[in-house]
Amino acid sequence: MRKLAFLILIVLAIAIQFNSCKHEPTQPIYNGTDTTGNGHGNNNGSENNQTNDSICFNTQILPLIVNNCATSGCHDATSRVEGLNLTTYSAIRRMVNPTTMKGSLLSVAQSTGRNRMPPPPMAPMDTAAINLIKKWMTQGALNRICTDANGCDSSNVTYSSKIASIVNTNCKGCHQATNAGGGISLTSYAEVKSSVQNGTFMCTVHQNAGCSPMPKGGKLTACDIRKLEIWIANGYPQ
Ligand code: HEC
Repeated sequence: MRKLAFLILIVLAIAIQFNSCKHEPTQPIYNGTDTTGNGHGNNNGSENNQTNDSICFNTQILPLIVNNCATSGCHDATSRVEGLNLTTYSAIRRMVNPTTMKGSLLSVAQSTGRNRMPPPPMAPMDTAAINLIKKWMTQGALNRICTDANGCDSSNVTYSSKIASIVNTNCKGCHQATNAGGGISLTSYAEVKSSVQNGTFMCTVHQNAGCSPMPKGGKLTACDIRKLEIWIANGYPQ
């Protein structure tokens, strides 16, 4: 019975905040949360770590969760819908169980029913995002912190090798489908290229005066910004 009441409560809570989530985290979140991560020494030179295949929590998982879940009015530090503030390692870690490879994070993200998160009108998390979370879980769901001091692999920058993962992790959650921030969709090579060419993309990323700083609530690492600049200078290799 108690379980049923709890379920009803959850459904109610979801219903109440259904359309109230805006894509605006209200405070900086990328720096200064848990920095107890290990792995500083053995990073193979790539800040996003594709080379040694270890997932970095701060640059790969946290921004992904933040731009899908910790938006304003949802699970950000201020709104804490359902008591959940998903801007810290400890809160996110509680939602995954690396031993069983299950947990509430995967179950709501993969749900096709009414408890899907993020809820409509937001788009569901895509397969690449789910797979990244799973991979992080198979590695023990560690709070692995990567910084530019670990080195920056800016070789062979193409859209598919480097740029897509930066945009998917840091921007796509808020820039897709009907609810795309500023009406700007950033989900494919063509869309990202045209946004860079036509618009304020790099100005927002550099967080220069005169345009909205992006990603909201954080800033790309210098390494990711460098990769974007190399990609542009080289003529947007696919
Ligand atoms: C948490 C949600 C969120 C994230 C993450 C996010 N954006 Fe945005 N973005 C918005 C919203 C909402 C707007 C429209 C309102 C505004 O400009 O603040 C917007 C507007 C923009 C604009 C138009 C800005 C202007 O001044 O006209 C660009 C370009 C942009 N975003 C690029 C990006 C890029 C690139 C990333 C990733 C590096 C990113 N955004 C990440 C929510 C987000």
